[in-house]
Amino acid sequence: MRCRKCNTKAVIGLPRHNAAFCKVCFNEYVHDQVRRAIKAERMFNRDDRILVAVSGGKDSLALWDILLKLGYRTDALYVDLGIADYSIKSREKVEQFAHMAAQSHGAALLIHTVQQEEGAGIRELADLIHRPTCSACGTIKRYQFNRAAVEHGYDVLATGHNLDDEAARLLGNVLHWQEEYLDKQSPNLPASVEGFAKKVKPLYRLAERETAAYAVLNGIDYIVEECPMAKGSKMLLYKEVLNRLETESPGTKQAFYWGFLEKQARVRPTTPAMTEKDRLTLHPCATCGQPTTAEVCSYCKMMVRAKASIPDS
Ligand code: AMP
Ligand code: FES
Ligand code: ZN
Repeated sequence: MRCRKCNTKAVIGLPRHNAAFCKVCFNEYVHDQVRRAIKAERMFNRDDRILVAVSGGKDSLALWDILLKLGYRTDALYVDLGIADYSIKSREKVEQFAHMAAQSHGAALLIHTVQQEEGAGIRELADLIHRPTCSACGTIKRYQFNRAAVEHGYDVLATGHNLDDEAARLLGNVLHWQEEYLDKQSPNLPASVEGFAKKVKPLYRLAERETAAYAVLNGIDYIVEECPMAKGSKMLLYKEVLNRLETESPGTKQAFYWGFLEKQARVRPTTPAMTEKDRLTLHPCATCGQPTTAEVCSYCKMMVRAKASIPDS
């Protein structure tokens, strides 16, 4: 297998592009895909301050690395969810990478610890309110990401969602015809109202195996295990199904998700972050001031319910 660009020995084959690359040309390919994503979706520019949400996994650490190398002003946020060993290990990976990023680029790491802020880790919080951990976790992460970006004055919040994540999410939304979610599924959600940070997914053009290869080839030490709570999740099943299709017909995932984005852009040239109904009804949460369509936001409601169910509180 030879590199398509320079004809030296290739280290990775990319069947969906009918290509193979050596390490240098693969890095160039990855950087180029991210540059294209940023440009095509008008995610941010050189002057913007970017906050990357890093989980300690390959995608988000690779994203931080890529944005720094492309010369963007990028700091990171880690939310410590308090999931026993998994959080301890992932935090270590993040801190280790952040140490290098501080030395090489002067980048900063913000850490929000759920246990410290709310008095319990997310497993206990989810148990207290009888919700599946992953769904409580989603609410907590969305809230923490937005709050950190807004409070620290970042122009945009970036996450490490890749092509596999987005294609799996699209499959789930289509299978259940969740039209409202389909409307909002985009690699760029603009900051449409005060208090809502702009959110972008610069890795949406890269497959999971490509971000993993990038991390390995560039010596990025990441947590390999998935979150223990994700076992048996629908998302993992959708990813498996899509991988099966991808093996049979390379390019399926890309055609599915990029095709969706093209159709979406044709029907609706500007990306709405939310429906008109949301926009009209959003106002600050009575407890925390974050935007919500209800009196109190779903995060604060969750915390009130959790605290009310602690036996002697
Ligand atoms: P996941 O929801 O685990 O698939 O993660 C999707 C993206 O959310 C990751 O690529 C990160 O950008 C971000 N993320 C997930 N977990 C955390 C965390 N604990 N702290 C900060 N960012 C996170
Ligand atoms: Fe949220 Fe696993 S990362 S439950
Ligand atoms: Zn609130």
